Amino acid sequence: MEERYLELIKIINEADYNYHTLDKPTITDQEYDSLLRELYNIEEEHPELVRSDSPSKRAGGQILDEFKKITHEIPMLSLSNVFNEEEIRQFDDRIRKEGIDPKYVAELKIDGLSVSLNYKQGKLISAATRGDGVVGEDITNNVKTIKTVPLTIKEPIDIEVRGEIYISKKRFNEINAEREKQGLELYQNCRNLAAGSIRQLDSSIAASRKLDCWIYHLPNPDDYGIKTHYEALEFMKNLGFKVNPNNRLVNNVEELLDFIKEKGEKRESLPYDIDGIVIKLNNLNEQKIMGFTAKYPRWATAYKFPAKEVLTKLEDIIFTVGRTGQITPNAVLSPVLVQGSTIRRATLHNEDYVKEKDLKIGDTVSIRKAGDVIPEVVERILDRRDGTEKEFVMIDKCPICGSKLVKKEGQVDYFCLNPLCDRRNIESLIHFVDRHAMNITGLGERIIEDFYNMGIIRNITDIYHLKKNAEDLVELEGFGNKSVNNLLEAIEESKKNSLEKLIFALGIEQVGEKTARVLARKFETMDNLMIADQETLTNIQDIGEIIAESIVTYFSKEENKKLISDLKDLGINMVYTGEKIEAKDEFADKTFVITGTLSNYTRDEVKRMIENFGGKVSDSVSKKTSVVIVGENPGSKYDKAQALGIEIWNDEQVNEIFDNYK
Ligand code: IVH
Repeated sequence: MEERYLELIKIINEADYNYHTLDKPTITDQEYDSLLRELYNIEEEHPELVRSDSPSKRAGGQILDEFKKITHEIPMLSLSNVFNEEEIRQFDDRIRKEGIDPKYVAELKIDGLSVSLNYKQGKLISAATRGDGVVGEDITNNVKTIKTVPLTIKEPIDIEVRGEIYISKKRFNEINAEREKQGLELYQNCRNLAAGSIRQLDSSIAASRKLDCWIYHLPNPDDYGIKTHYEALEFMKNLGFKVNPNNRLVNNVEELLDFIKEKGEKRESLPYDIDGIVIKLNNLNEQKIMGFTAKYPRWATAYKFPAKEVLTKLEDIIFTVGRTGQITPNAVLSPVLVQGSTIRRATLHNEDYVKEKDLKIGDTVSIRKAGDVIPEVVERILDRRDGTEKEFVMIDKCPICGSKLVKKEGQVDYFCLNPLCDRRNIESLIHFVDRHAMNITGLGERIIEDFYNMGIIRNITDIYHLKKNAEDLVELEGFGNKSVNNLLEAIEESKKNSLEKLIFALGIEQVGEKTARVLARKFETMDNLMIADQETLTNIQDIGEIIAESIVTYFSKEENKKLISDLKDLGINMVYTGEKIEAKDEFADKTFVITGTLSNYTRDEVKRMIENFGGKVSDSVSKKTSVVIVGENPGSKYDKAQALGIEIWNDEQVNEIFDNYK
């Protein structure tokens, strides 16, 4: 029986592969159904035999309470963008400057969501979303419903591959048509639908959506002796993954531009959405030379197709108040569909912006999605004016609290300076709980606003007193025992955050996420930071006069000191618990530039170590550079370093110094 069971798994998985991935069915639908029925019968009678790579696992049915977290061994990075030929040539030039004569692989940029698939001994063991790039969500059950994701690959090896989950235009239209019939809200575009489907806790819903998946990235090519990205694609294809047949190896920028033109013209006729072309350096050694920035690989980029412009009417200009009191004019537009989503609003930034664009209420305007995401008003169409348009007038009082607006010297923005302004308070609370700040899930914008208006949360400390009102919360519409418990748990959890999250959450002017991290690492405790003076702060790399002044001012105010002391009493962690900087003499306060390939360390490792030891890594050599680290095949940075007489560490020295500290 077991033998037949294993055989069935093999035959059905193969049939799935031939049908879905290769698009070449080898058996009839009837044969397939009968094999599947036989498999189900065996599994029902012998539950002890059921295996994780059984095609029955593709049917869905498991319902989770929540997604578990999965930490990516190698972070899942996003790509930088280029928007025109000039920027493509600049990308190419940056690579050439490192002494590389590049060949590229050009690929379609699939508009879906990225996924990492993990196989052990050839079996799919987990699948994760990108998440914040470091920690993603475990979506294995849902991914197993995707017929083109092999449950078993052709070699019994350990491997991680990455790709894009997407949904075809055909399925998108079918699902929306069905939803329309049922009076349900429609999905805005293929990407939204794919993302919405993969985030379902009930995997039978994901199964019903019929998602698909292209594989395009092998994070550990060295493990398989692979030397080029194109080889990696072939390798993954031969293992049974669905690799896009449009991928093309190109020899130079000219061939790349041809590819972009050709695919751009074919875009509409493709069965799935693409939003650009991904350009990847083919040679993996050369990729190593280029390395990474904090966010992106420097060996790849995404060319984004030009945004489509659409005409609509500027119905009104309304004003919103941000957490700092900043007043922003916003365009209220007649709803219009742009690249799959309905646009109703667009920011107009400030008074000067509106005046420069000469916008009047009632104008016909062209709009587009900048970078394909954020709606933007491009221009008013002059010859559509009929004289009924109204002039734009900047307000002089806060639209929420009525206090007089103030324009700070030298700035273009107006501010509401009333610390009691409701909108400012609500926005500050929204910022405090944000994913990048204290990350309190369950307190979305709507809920914060409702709780604020109901008087349940009026200030930050109220969040940590919610526990006392738990019984009242359960009574509220849309809240039950479970959601209240989840919320309270998230609030408790946030108390343990490392210091940088709290610093950012406080919303100190000029202190973004990165500065918050720098401060937390440097001062380690809130107490230390609070007593830091202007000079100590400006002595820190990356912190200038303006930021320093803003920090000192913030902590000089009694109400802020009280807030911190209240939060401390409530048990909120005030200590940095992330990676520690251990300043080492060779590195502390020095600026490093790396060029060429090192034998034992990747560029990223070197960078991380330098930063952990208190140094800074920069991209270009200048007089301020302290040390240039030179590996094999260095670029022009080496020449420049020699010309400027800058200290140079060669591969051997790097090994010696770093091995010491490992
Ligand atoms: S490569 C380090 N290749 O686009 C390698 N990404 O805007 C990073 N995407 O996060 C990814 N098609 O979700 C790559 N052929 C392709 C892609 C692709 C779509 C997505 C991916 C990535 C995003 C960046």
